[in-house]
Amino acid sequence: MAAKMEKLALFAWLLFSFCLLGYLSLGEADRQGDILFKLLMSRRSENSHVSHSWAGLDALNEYSSVGIEPQDGKMESDKIDALPGQPEGVDFDQYSGYVTVDQKAGRALFYYFVESPQNSSTKPLVMWLNGGPGCSSFGLGAMTELGPFRVNSDGQTLFRNDYAWNNVANVIFLESPAGVGFSYSNTTSDYDKAGDTTTAIDAYTFLVNWFERFPQYKTRDFFIAGESYAGHYVPQLAYTILLNNNNTNQTVINLKGIAVGNALLHESITLWGIYDNLWTHAINSDETYKGIHKYCDFAKDFFSEKCSDFIRQSLDERGDIDIYNIYAPICLDTSLKNSSNGSVHDFDPCSNYYVENYLNIKEVQMALHANQIIWTHCRDYAWTDRPVTTLPIIKIIMASGVSVWVYSGDTDGRVPVAATRYSLNTLKLPIKAAWHAWYTNREVGGYVVEYEGLKLATVRGAGHLVPSYQPERALTLISSFLQGTLPPSTP
Ligand SMILES: *[C@@H]1O[C@H](CO)[C@@H](O)[C@H](O)[C@H]1NC(C)=O
Ligand SMILES: *[C@@H]1O[C@H](CO)[C@@H](O)[C@H](O)[C@H]1NC(C)=O
Ligand SMILES: *[C@@H]1O[C@H](CO)[C@@H](O)[C@H](O)[C@H]1NC(C)=O
Ligand SMILES: *[C@@H]1O[C@H](CO)[C@@H](O)[C@H](O)[C@H]1NC(C)=O
Ligand SMILES: *[C@@H]1O[C@H](CO)[C@@H](O)[C@H](O)[C@H]1NC(C)=O
Ligand SMILES: *[C@@H]1O[C@H](CO)[C@@H](O)[C@H](O)[C@H]1NC(C)=O
Repeated sequence: MAAKMEKLALFAWLLFSFCLLGYLSLGEADRQGDILFKLLMSRRSENSHVSHSWAGLDALNEYSSVGIEPQDGKMESDKIDALPGQPEGVDFDQYSGYVTVDQKAGRALFYYFVESPQNSSTKPLVMWLNGGPGCSSFGLGAMTELGPFRVNSDGQTLFRNDYAWNNVANVIFLESPAGVGFSYSNTTSDYDKAGDTTTAIDAYTFLVNWFERFPQYKTRDFFIAGESYAGHYVPQLAYTILLNNNNTNQTVINLKGIAVGNALLHESITLWGIYDNLWTHAINSDETYKGIHKYCDFAKDFFSEKCSDFIRQSLDERGDIDIYNIYAPICLDTSLKNSSNGSVHDFDPCSNYYVENYLNIKEVQMALHANQIIWTHCRDYAWTDRPVTTLPIIKIIMASGVSVWVYSGDTDGRVPVAATRYSLNTLKLPIKAAWHAWYTNREVGGYVVEYEGLKLATVRGAGHLVPSYQPERALTLISSFLQGTLPPSTP
């Protein structure tokens, strides 16, 4: 009993310190990683919800056909005239709106879709997913990472991201699952049922209906990319697509590849990666590192008291840094500033506050065809199901011939590159092209190794949200992924 209380107290304490950092100094976006860490810790007390295989695998095996609603005229009505405060000279089309994924429950997912300025009809289609679970792909992914615009520090106007991924693809940002951002359900008990399985099925239903709304994309090369907890969403959605492509009555989706960045692939291995990374990057002491290695067994369901003590010590030693990008400045002033001169070359660590202000402006919500709500970056879910690892599903996807890329910003402390390497090394894949530097703009952009069926690339100087701090390197990397080539190996 006493031991159990200790565990609960530690959990509450971790929760408190992470939320505190999340809200007061690091900015809302970082809750994507905070929620992820909380989830890793929560496994200790909610073991019954966690299994080694994905329950969804079985659920989806018996999965028949999804409902397709008529979509006539909806593409036209989803077209955005202009976003309030957008810069002059916007040369591409933008769409946003809702796709109903369950008519009876009244459940609908919100998307933002940007076409490519040039030759959009021959460029591939990419779906982007942020993690959490429960964080917005629109607020984070589109507005602070890879979308065409970022929000100025005035919280009202936008500036152009020259390295937006719609330079090379048509990009859908999906707020998933229902309850995140503008996505909702009229049956609010749906929020308590959210988990990996319902998220994958809803995202699949969204896609099938979205292709009816945008039929010109039905046969287009399709890719799914995402970061953090999307290490679950992306492979699970890909697997759902492959399964349903085999059902002759279902729309065949032309899935070509998946990419996951700083992704949760295996829970206990990720915890080892986190603590080893804190030591190798001189954030934790020798004593803490040794203590964690001596007393912690992350594969077990509960931490020992000694292990808990060292985890607490690790946090104390860390100080107030941005664990999602350990060398980056932190947000020291969360207020709006009076300037409209933001630059993609100079990432502002307070960006999330500007985004939150912008997306809560009535005219912005109207321009987006969104419900008038108080929009937030993340929702906290109880989260009903998840496997301890998505590597088995990734292996199935690799075997199906779909291209699989794993990338990692190498200054992230939340899902550090060590966690990714430890996880992938368990697959024992043969090497096709040995580890080497890749280049962009005459500088090393990172390192890449090609395994049989999977490529691993790092992005030098990028944190958890890779395109925020290294937009040019991220664009080079994703262009290579879409073209099916390794990034340039010479300057
Ligand atoms: C949810 O309820 C509102 C109000 O009745 C309705 O306008 C809306 O269409 C419903 N949403 C869905 C997805 O059915
Ligand atoms: C667009 O496609 C045309 C025809 O294939 C090609 O000549 C042109 O260079 C392309 N433009 C861009 C910007 O990719
Ligand atoms: C789809 O069908 C093919 C051919 O029967 C099979 O090899 C493959 O495993 C199936 N894919 C999935 C995801 O079930
Ligand atoms: C496909 O649809 C037909 C007619 O609706 C139905 O009879 C058949 O069972 C369906 N097949 C599958 C594999 O769902
Ligand atoms: C912001 O700048 C505008 C134009 O320069 C000025 O009129 C306004 O008073 C400023 N607002 C604040 C809060 O400084
Ligand atoms: C924008 O202007 C402010 C005030 O003039 C200045 O402090 C800031 O450095 C500028 N930001 C950029 C990205 O140029």
